[in-house]
Amino acid sequence: MSGVLAWRCAVCGTTVDIAAAHAFTCPRATPGDRHHVLHPIATDSVPAPVDDPNPFIAYGPRMAWWAFAAANGMTEPARVALASEVAAGFAVTPLGRHELDLAMNGDSPATPVWVKDETGNVGGSHKSRHLAGILLHLRAAEALGVAPERSGRAPLAIASCGNAAIAAATLAQRVDWPLEVYVPDWASPAVMALLESLGASIKVCERREGDPPGDPAVLRFRDAVDAGALPFSVQGPENGMCLDGGRTLGWELADAVGTAGGPARLDRMVVQVGGGALATCVGWAVGPSVRLDTVQADGCAPLARAWWRAKDAGMAAAEIPHRWSHLMTAWERPESLADGILDDETYDWLGAFEVMTASGGQPLVAPEEAIVRAAEIGASSGIPVSATGAAALAGLLVREGKPASGEQVAVVFSGVTR
Ligand SMILES: Cc1ncc(COP(=O)(O)O)c(C=O)c1O
Ligand SMILES: [Zn+2]
Repeated sequence: MSGVLAWRCAVCGTTVDIAAAHAFTCPRATPGDRHHVLHPIATDSVPAPVDDPNPFIAYGPRMAWWAFAAANGMTEPARVALASEVAAGFAVTPLGRHELDLAMNGDSPATPVWVKDETGNVGGSHKSRHLAGILLHLRAAEALGVAPERSGRAPLAIASCGNAAIAAATLAQRVDWPLEVYVPDWASPAVMALLESLGASIKVCERREGDPPGDPAVLRFRDAVDAGALPFSVQGPENGMCLDGGRTLGWELADAVGTAGGPARLDRMVVQVGGGALATCVGWAVGPSVRLDTVQADGCAPLARAWWRAKDAGMAAAEIPHRWSHLMTAWERPESLADGILDDETYDWLGAFEVMTASGGQPLVAPEEAIVRAAEIGASSGIPVSATGAAALAGLLVREGKPASGEQVAVVFSGVTR
């Protein structure tokens, strides 16, 4: 039995067969109307994990790439062999209980927080989980001879100058698939050198006269995709398949509950949000019984702004996706030490809304002092986590997000310090 029935657009409801190759975006999306996003629709009964240390095999029966390959005739041993190659090195990441000093000025009684440590994951962050699901689909389509003709081995393309780009280059290199990375002209020379050493082709994107508002790297990435490149993106609207593999993180967390060394129960997840794919995937996978709060810095909080706009307008849930342009607008001057979550729009806002609504969670907005303090707490935890990766802790420092006594709270530390 498969865990994924189909893809369905969260905006217009169009469904796409799970057997369709390269079904990255909603068939009704157009260059003039990009406000569509395919979500994997799961069966009610979730298949039990297979006994394997690699999450892309263990949770294979719940995943879209697996269902796609199966529907096109790939045998189970062949799917396992494919995952062993493409998703080599993935393993269940550590979940530990940390006693953290959650005071703004330090020196208060320690609060226990469960930390899922993604800093040792492939590429140094959770981003590789989103991308491995896409790459498994691409490799399966290629092996089965069902990939659309024109795309043969068209290059992969991504717009990122951070953890996602590093994950993309790491995965593309191992299967020898050409990758173009679209970066803004202020990208860090150190990251660009790392990407080059991983074999990626860097495309520095300056703003051009006549460009519409938005990140020029994203605009050039979209041009490349329109010209035939494959969207190797960690943003659902660019490629819904990134929302497949990201769920492995949440399944691992859920399956740690009740195990030796794991939490007896989980009450709340607090997740830092940039593009929103991480929160969406974790929320779907842990399920609505665990409250999911999102965290953004007050220097860039488009998700929280959209949420409160919808609440203030008393908008019904069914109306929200149709008000995309009105609710989810670009943040003007994103600014924070947590520079990996400065996406001016929360691309996967509909998924994030869905998981917060279903679980009774809310978007938390942290003042910059809390982001800075969160980075300090992260740095003193013994885990080499970046400021972005520790940013969820800032949500525990603000009044609305403070852990209640005895509450079992979990965060994701992602993005190794470089
Ligand atoms: C370390 C780290 N944590 C969290 C996030 C947020 O993930 P998302 O963009 O899916 O919201 C990012 C995104 O770049 C990141 O690099
Ligand atoms: Zn649609």
